Amino acid sequence: MSEYSVESMSAAIETAKEAAMSAIKNTADLSSLRALSAELNKKDSPLNSFKSEMGNLSSVDDKRAVGQLLNAATSEIAVALEDRSIEFADSEIAARIERESLDLTELLVSRRRGHSHIVTQATQRLEDVFIGLGFQIAEGPEVETDFYNFEALNMPKSHPARSEFDTMFLEYGETNSILLRTHTSPVQIRVMKSWKPPIYAIMPGRVFRRDTPDATHMPVFHQIEGLVIDRGITFAHLAGTIESFTKAFFGSEFTSRLRPSFFPFTEPSAEFDIRRADGEWIELGGCGMVHPNVLTSGGIDPEEFSGFAFGFGIDRMAKERHKVEDIREMYTNDLRFLRQF
Ligand code: DAH
Repeated sequence: MSEYSVESMSAAIETAKEAAMSAIKNTADLSSLRALSAELNKKDSPLNSFKSEMGNLSSVDDKRAVGQLLNAATSEIAVALEDRSIEFADSEIAARIERESLDLTELLVSRRRGHSHIVTQATQRLEDVFIGLGFQIAEGPEVETDFYNFEALNMPKSHPARSEFDTMFLEYGETNSILLRTHTSPVQIRVMKSWKPPIYAIMPGRVFRRDTPDATHMPVFHQIEGLVIDRGITFAHLAGTIESFTKAFFGSEFTSRLRPSFFPFTEPSAEFDIRRADGEWIELGGCGMVHPNVLTSGGIDPEEFSGFAFGFGIDRMAKERHKVEDIREMYTNDLRFLRQF
């Protein structure tokens, strides 16, 4: 009966366990693992057959020793089966994620970037040129009071020049006292009131008039205002500044001229034109020596200081520079038009 000694059975259990463990390790997928598991749990599987053979051992102690060994081997195999099935489940999930994943990255050959509108480009170039001439930039509100837009600029309530500047009034405050500014000139007054001379300022911005849009007019457009206040400023300084600006902005082949004109806020007043290389004159804007009443409105003593001012439309300059036929094109937001510049 040596066949059923504790030693021989222990060795046989150990061998059967090792065989089962390596079989588990060698399974390739979940279904072969399931098949193996069924095999190992069969009544007549090598390990299970030891349960009945145990009865042949003579002593209770021997039976207990072999029984413990058998239980340990059985649970070790159960744990190995469980671990292996978790491994398969994990790799199945990983494979599925891999299979179903979407590549959402996109490779763009060139970056699509916008650029500034031609009126913004013109404004920035104007600012650069005037900063080069020693000017500072100021801004004022688009919604103005009657005082700044007219009154302080020497245009009292009854002044006929007001009719040139028809605009929208806001239902705010006293009737007809708050309006959309018709020019950038009111910023002159705001600058005079808040800065101290010497003042060398330019003031770009959006302005509004009750105009019907056509090829050369828009009810909303842009102007740039210039203001110089210092001691001993004369008309010669004005003419020299306009000429320097013309050459710096348009090129040295351009020149400028002043023609007598009238504006309520300047005295004397002039219209300024620039001449292209081909000899054609283009009207650009208005200018003049700041009227003493305007200096007084701005809190500056006309006995101590004098100055000049100028103002012109930015949109028309951009239109001229880029040879745009119809100014309305610049504001219809058609990308085919805008992308050209
Ligand atoms: N504000 C005037 C306009 O919109 C333009 C202008 C003329 C501005 C003469 C000035 C100036 O500063 O001196 O028509």
